[in-house]
Amino acid sequence: MKTLSELRSQRWFADSGMRGFAHRQRMQQQGWQRADVMSRPMVAIINTWSDLSPCHSHLRERAEAVKKGILMAGGYPVELPAMSLGEVMVKPTTMLYRNFLAMEVEELLRSLPCDGVVLLAGCDKTTPGTVMGAISMDIPTIFCAAGPMLNDRHVKNGVSQVVGAGTHTRIFWDEYQAGKLNAADMQQLESRMTRSPGTCNTMGTASTMTSIVEALGLALPGSTSIPAMDSAHTRMATQCGQRIVKMIWEDLKPSRLLTRGSFDNAVAVQMALGGSTNAAVHILAMAGRAGIELTLQDLDTAARDVPVLANLFPSGDKLMEDFYYAGGLPSLMRAIESKLSTGEMTVAGTTVADHLKLATLPDGDVIRTLDNPVSGSSALAVLKGNLAPNGAVIKPSAATPALLHHRGKALVFDNQPEMLAAMADETLDCDASTVLVLRNGGPVGAPGMPEWGNLPIPKKLLKQGVRDMLRLSDSRMSGTHYGTCVLHISPESAIGGPLAFVRTGDVIEINVDARKLELHVDDEELARRKAAWKPAEQRYQRGFTQLYQRHVTQAHEGCDFDFLQGTAPTPEPAIF
Ligand code: FES
Repeated sequence: MKTLSELRSQRWFADSGMRGFAHRQRMQQQGWQRADVMSRPMVAIINTWSDLSPCHSHLRERAEAVKKGILMAGGYPVELPAMSLGEVMVKPTTMLYRNFLAMEVEELLRSLPCDGVVLLAGCDKTTPGTVMGAISMDIPTIFCAAGPMLNDRHVKNGVSQVVGAGTHTRIFWDEYQAGKLNAADMQQLESRMTRSPGTCNTMGTASTMTSIVEALGLALPGSTSIPAMDSAHTRMATQCGQRIVKMIWEDLKPSRLLTRGSFDNAVAVQMALGGSTNAAVHILAMAGRAGIELTLQDLDTAARDVPVLANLFPSGDKLMEDFYYAGGLPSLMRAIESKLSTGEMTVAGTTVADHLKLATLPDGDVIRTLDNPVSGSSALAVLKGNLAPNGAVIKPSAATPALLHHRGKALVFDNQPEMLAAMADETLDCDASTVLVLRNGGPVGAPGMPEWGNLPIPKKLLKQGVRDMLRLSDSRMSGTHYGTCVLHISPESAIGGPLAFVRTGDVIEINVDARKLELHVDDEELARRKAAWKPAEQRYQRGFTQLYQRHVTQAHEGCDFDFLQGTAPTPEPAIF
């Protein structure tokens, strides 16, 4: 147990010199009593709310609920705004700023008198970004997930259809391009598809990452599946506030919770959820911050062992609200209990095994059992071959089975605008067997590894009824999307990875069962192309993006900055 004098905040407030005098003065300026800052732990609430982060539009109110809990438990709450990273609005991609947010969180906590932190986040990169920063700072931390938005339905001609945010954006857009939906349908969908605050209600990156953080033990058990607009969500936020104060006295910090076992649990959960391929990058980055050895190969091993049990879009046909009613993550973890390290500790101060005893049994529909999975295909496969020496990923459970073993001619694009223009060209030379290839979409090349990997189907083929093709890139794909898309090819093309040498007409072969991705061009010809290749000129000569391009690691390493990985100690700031 910690004593009052051991709290970080007391370095600021118990100081007997002029600095302590000034620190206490400034808190009293805001209406607090001298005794408050000298007797209570100070708890930061990192809030990723903003007017351009619609998934987090309720987080100001939730911050008040967290504050209530902190006060009830004898703490001193302070709300600290951080970069909000609303997935849809931020360009060119939120991934460019995940590491920025992680740095901001770490340095906010270090530079201010914080004894513990509640992280209010949920929209895609805000979860790994805030968690990575908190892991590196290593003070008691609870993750309070924004929670998924409510279900929606689309009604046309009296037929009602379940609609999932993100997944159906692509489905409806393809139908519109093919002439099956009209402008009036699209206007109605625009106004209805995201009907409440909260994160995407499919098993996209948001719900994948918040679930992973819960499986790591950093969120209260069962908390991450609660819908944003449920009153249980407000109560959960208050509980986070109450619990973090106790964690501070217990000195229960990330380094005491995060082990190889907790990361193995998180990876198993990703697979059972049919989670987003983006998790492959984020989980490696979080492990890197915690000093835990974890590789892409470990993810592939887990994917072969743990089938998809969560019947949620895009692998299944239900939404997060259904998942919550079916028991949420604790119930899913109970379904894979035999695959988990159940002795791992959680922020609740108890073990995974303790929580699983209280979890409801899987309902067999939304949450399946190991003998009745949603899909015969896994949530992830890591491919290797002469096109991806360091690996690439694919999500077989959201792909077309017939394309998982495929051979076809490449149609190559060097950039996104060129590719988009070609897709709209109804004379484009391609057919359903063509392999679409996009390069310069990786961490350095794009930069920021945007979600360009779900290349659109050429309009000409959409009209013929084609809805999926084999697509390859060094980009990522939204977790809400589906299709036979090989992603995260590493090393990326912009730094001279083999993807840079593919030409239109080359034959590419994929065999997911054998985990193979091959370019059928002989070694001498590839060597000739490599010798003639020149890297593109870097567009950014200053600023954060230049820092990013210089220091970002490749996809198979988690895309963290090289100087932020690991657990080397950082000195506490001087107080004078
Ligand atoms: Fe925020 Fe999907 S856009 S979670």
